[in-house]
Amino acid sequence: MKVAIIGTGYVGLPTGVGLAELGNKVVCVDKIAEKIDSLNSGKITIYEDGMEELFQKNLKKGSISFTQDMETAVKDADLVMIAVGTPPHPETKEADLKYIYAAAEELAQYLTGYTVVATKSTVPVGTGDEVEAIIKRVNPDANCDVVSLPEFLREGFAIHDFFNPDRIVIGANTTKAQEVLLTLYKPFKGKTEFLLVNRKSSETIKYASNAFLAMKIHYINEMANFCEKAGADINEVAKGMGLDSRIGKKFLNAGPGYGGSCFPKDTNAMAQMGKKYGARLNLIETTIAKNDERKVEMGQRVIDAVKDYKDGKIAVLGLAFKGGTDDCRDSPAMEILNEILRHSSNVSVYDPKAMENAQKLIGDKVVYANDAYEACKSADILVILTEWEEFKHLDLVKLKQIMRHARIMDMRNMLNPKDVKNNGFVYSCIGMK
Ligand SMILES: NC(=O)c1ccc[n+]([C@@H]2O[C@H](COP(=O)([O-])OP(=O)(O)OC[C@H]3O[C@@H](n4cnc5c(N)ncnc54)[C@H](O)[C@@H]3O)[C@@H](O)[C@H]2O)c1
Repeated sequence: MKVAIIGTGYVGLPTGVGLAELGNKVVCVDKIAEKIDSLNSGKITIYEDGMEELFQKNLKKGSISFTQDMETAVKDADLVMIAVGTPPHPETKEADLKYIYAAAEELAQYLTGYTVVATKSTVPVGTGDEVEAIIKRVNPDANCDVVSLPEFLREGFAIHDFFNPDRIVIGANTTKAQEVLLTLYKPFKGKTEFLLVNRKSSETIKYASNAFLAMKIHYINEMANFCEKAGADINEVAKGMGLDSRIGKKFLNAGPGYGGSCFPKDTNAMAQMGKKYGARLNLIETTIAKNDERKVEMGQRVIDAVKDYKDGKIAVLGLAFKGGTDDCRDSPAMEILNEILRHSSNVSVYDPKAMENAQKLIGDKVVYANDAYEACKSADILVILTEWEEFKHLDLVKLKQIMRHARIMDMRNMLNPKDVKNNGFVYSCIGMK
């Protein structure tokens, strides 16, 4: 199948690489020339575990190619996937659909033969109707169906999730379009659940899922606050809860609050949709407000911990919104860091993958270290903000020698409290006294 993918970001690129690996002919289009040049020259633009090898292999085979020219990508395509950003509108907090609409306007001109136009981007209910109307207006002769095809991949696991989806949701209003997508995803038949639903249900499934996961994180964080006061241990509590199959083990890790490029914007967009349709989503609205407050509180915890040291040095480990990615968009680590920087200018940071992206956001307000130990040299406190595997294996003896004060604040509950204390550190984490 010839597949055009519009947008080569965290969704478009892994999806393109995955579809090429499955034997499709994939052409990815992006309007950023640097990205296209880089990808065509064999240099991958985002970090995703396991993507490099598949990318190189399919690029060499010619199964995937990159262009800035929409016509080259869309002409003769059986399927066009829209994977452009849907950022929050700065004022209304609704999903800003300007990139979706611009992509629809442009692609409509080049449709040839029967084509399925599938929206992979996360879009509010009814966006499919709008996209369909735009295509009809721009190209009244277009023979196409517009489908909602929500994406559920997790950054950092995008390739794994592409090949092992929990479910494939197809929101198509015609059987012809359904068939095209069932053919595309045939390799997954028998391996995953296919859900054929109407377009609006499909659009809602994506938001309802993300909002639920965000609420689950918020719930365990609230329990962590309770445990800190009551003397319980959130790790034990979460384990006890998670063993109940109705609750499940995942998304019960207490931490500094959820973030990333999806949960904050999607919860906000869902809450706005609730208002629009006159069905207020109170649980989601509260989750958003409390999660925002939490990050400020976490920054304050750090500042309080060093308040007795004159110009105390704060070493921050982790900047990405979670381990396994270089993405700093709406990262809780970055928000906590910003709160810290409101009170301190003596901050050194390290992240295994996200230094470049962080630098684009905060510039020279911090010192960028080459590794965790360089960041911690002469520090008065070490703060872990992102759950990178390598932080689990820090050499505590070495840290004790190089830090000015032996103090660790572990906001991802990664370290073994006993080990850390036995090595002479003052240790604090989330959800334990
Ligand atoms: N990042 C995730 O983990 C994730 C997971 C599931 C769903 N989503 C959703 O997928 C969508 C894309 O997210 P992302 O993180 O990949 O975004 P991104 O910002 O990483 O990538 C979007 C890309 O689209 C390109 N683009 C925008 N308009 C274009 C146009 N008219 N023509 C060509 N290229 C264009 C941009 O230049 C950019 O490279 C969003 O709606 C997001 O909510 C993201």
